[in-house]
Parts: sequence; structure tokens; C-alpha cells
Amino acid sequence: MSRHVTNIAVLGSTGSIGRNALEVIEASEGSLQAIALAAGKNTALLKEQSQAIRPRWIVVADPEAANREDWSDLPSETELLVGAESIPRLVAEPEIDVVLSAIVGRAGLEGTWAALDAGKTVALANKESLVVGGPLVTRLARRKQASILPVDSEHSAVFQALQAGRREEVQRVVLTASGGPFRTHSKEQIAEVTVEEALAHPTWDMGPKITIDSATLMNKALEIIEARWLFDLRPEQIGVVIHPQSIVHSLVEFIDGSILAQLSPPDMKLPIQYALNWPNRKAGVAQRLDWSQAMRLEFEPPDEDRFPALGLGLEVASAGGTAGAVLNGANEEAVAAFLHGRIRFDRIVPICQQVLQFHCFDPEPTLEQLLESDRWAREEVSRWIGA
Ligand SMILES: NC(=O)c1ccc[n+]([C@@H]2O[C@H](COP(=O)([O-])OP(=O)(O)OC[C@H]3O[C@@H](n4cnc5c(N)ncnc54)[C@H](OP(=O)(O)O)[C@@H]3O)[C@@H](O)[C@H]2O)c1
Repeated sequence: MSRHVTNIAVLGSTGSIGRNALEVIEASEGSLQAIALAAGKNTALLKEQSQAIRPRWIVVADPEAANREDWSDLPSETELLVGAESIPRLVAEPEIDVVLSAIVGRAGLEGTWAALDAGKTVALANKESLVVGGPLVTRLARRKQASILPVDSEHSAVFQALQAGRREEVQRVVLTASGGPFRTHSKEQIAEVTVEEALAHPTWDMGPKITIDSATLMNKALEIIEARWLFDLRPEQIGVVIHPQSIVHSLVEFIDGSILAQLSPPDMKLPIQYALNWPNRKAGVAQRLDWSQAMRLEFEPPDEDRFPALGLGLEVASAGGTAGAVLNGANEEAVAAFLHGRIRFDRIVPICQQVLQFHCFDPEPTLEQLLESDRWAREEVSRWIGA
């Protein structure tokens, strides 16, 4: 008897989400299959993954990295494609059912966009796609009858909890935040933190960019914007609560005061597995809560004075238009500057605030104008840092 196999393209297979996704797919006993992999520069790992999985296609976005690698031992059935422009072409292949969009940063937008344009189901880890192009991306999905399934753990939790009631019965959504490594630091201590300290997240093991975003709480700001567009919420319906244990992944409050939450250990395999198997639930490799152990769940309001990124997130979610592209571009550039030791940690958010203030706001941009706003914001940050 034949059984249904879901063919998946994993964009960002060499990253933290990509590697977790390949574990989930491997544990599915053949019901999920990775038939395409895409990466940026890490050709050694991509080759290793290709030898283990034998996909139909692989993409190396960085041509120089592709040229440096010896591909002679690639499986004979695997076709190598080179250059970022191969990704939008690849995701439209008729054999692909689900595209896991897990490239980091604005660079993930083209893959998300092309997959939706081709009517594919997109399992979306790349929150930047919605931060930059929220209304355009969700409109495209509706027009092409393509689904966007959240992989971000908070949005996966909201997506699951929303199923308990009707949309008009939702009062608000509360996103949980671990608070990052500097949750209890004073402003003075935050000013002095090193790259190593900022990269040491207390509960989640993630790529460097999102780890820094978690330390500034910019990650939560980006998630507020993501939630606004993904669930079509008004900005005032989105709240944030600090929850250091990262076990409650978010909550939905209904008009009668009932609150529904989704709980599980901090392990991205569960939201990945949920999105890839949706609308079904399958047993898998994600960690489970151990109820034989005592457990404490704490919640506290965020401190917007020490973590001003949160206010910025709500502001940008309200403004819409080009604001998301500018915030995201400025943040990516400022985070890279911090990681390279060029600015202090506590300059990241103020730089984003300033670039947003200076930008020429357009309420109804095209995709091209959003990409232009992104370029402008990055150039502004480089110019200010260089000056
Ligand atoms: N990690 C998490 O727990 C988590 C949770 C929620 C949401 N997310 C979101 O998921 C996305 C990925 O995060 P991550 O932590 O997995 O990041 P990561 O570990 O840094 O991995 C990033 C991936 O993107 C690839 N990449 C980078 N630039 C590229 C480009 N220009 N073209 C093609 N591929 C490129 C990298 O390839 P190479 O390494 O080969 O260069 C790598 O495969 C982000 O948007 C993040 O916000 C992550």
C-alpha cells in the first residue's frame, strides 16, 4: 500500500533550524523527505548532508564558496546549483510540497516569496520575511492560496492556541520572552557586555544573529511585527511577558478571560515537526517535559527602559509600510558590527531608532521599494559607524 510522502525543500539546511529539521525528517520514517537543500557558504556540511540524504537538488548561494569545494563525490542523483538566484527557481519545482524557509535575515525573503508565488506551503522560520514585507507577503499567500505555517516557537504556540476559539473571540496574544542573558543586568552592566557573553543564551541554542537579537530583545520586537501580519492582529492586541524558563511558548487570551498556552521544553524540533506534519500531529524526536521533576514557571513584565527594542517593535508594527524593512536592515547591520567588535552592545537599538527616524516613510511600498529601503538602512548604519 502506498503512503503519502511530503517532499520538503530545506532552505538554510546548514543552520541551527536546518540541522534540527533534518533530524525531524530523518526520524519521520519516510513520511517526510528532504529533496532539496540550500545553504550559504558552509559547503563542507552541505556536502555531508547531501551524502547522507541524497537529495534531488542542492544550492550553494555563495559562488566563491561553491568554487572552492571539490564536488566529485556528490551523489550521482544530486544536482548542484550555484548562486542565490537558484533558490527562487528551485522552490517552484512541482515535486516540492513544503518549503522550510530557514535562511537567516533579509536574505530569506526571496525564497519565501517565490515559494508562496508558486502556491507552496511555507514552514516559516525566517521571521524577517514578515518583518520586511508583512502585508505584501500575506497578500501573496492569500492570492495564491498558499499556507504560511509558523516555525518560530512563539508563533507556533499562538497558531495552536488560536484553534481553541473563533477569531472574533480573541482578546489578545501574549508572546513570551526568555529575557536573554542580560535579563537582570543594570543599564550600566548592559553597556559593558562582550560578544561572548551576548552569544551565551541561557535557554536556546540558535544561530549568532538571532542569539544577539534575543539579548537585545530585538528578537521579540521582530516577533511582534511577525505576529501582527501573520495573525492579522491589531498592534494593541499583542503583548510580551518575560518567562525565563522558556517552557510556555506564548499565550492567547480570549474575550471571556480564558488563556490558552502551549508548553514544551525549549527545543525547536517540536515547532518544526508540527509545521512539517500539519494538519496532523506525529510522535517525533522533540524533547518532552518531565513531570516527575519539580518545575517552576515564572512570569514578569518586561522593562522597556533597559530593553527599548520592544517599544520599537510595537511602533513599527503600527506604522507598517517601509518601517519594517528599515528596522530589519538597520538591525542586521548593527548586529554584524557588534559581532565584529565595531560597536558596543548597547548601541544596537539606538542606531535602529535613529535610522527609523531619518527614513522617508512610504505607507504602501512595492516589493522593490522595500528592498530599496533595506539597502538604504544598511548603508546609513555603515556610514554612521564608519564616521
Ligand atoms: N535557531 C532558532 O532556534 C530559531 C528560532 C526561531 C526562528 N529562527 C529563525 O530562523 C532563521 C534561521 O536561524 P538560525 O538560527 O538557524 O540561523 P543560522 O544557524 O545562522 O543559519 C542560517 C542559515 O542561513 C544560511 N544563509 C545565510 N545567508 C545566506 C544567504 N545569503 N543565502 C543562502 N543561505 C544563507 C546559512 O548558510 P551557511 O551557514 O552555509 O552560510 C545557514 O544555513 C532566522 O530567520 C531566525 O530568526 C531561528
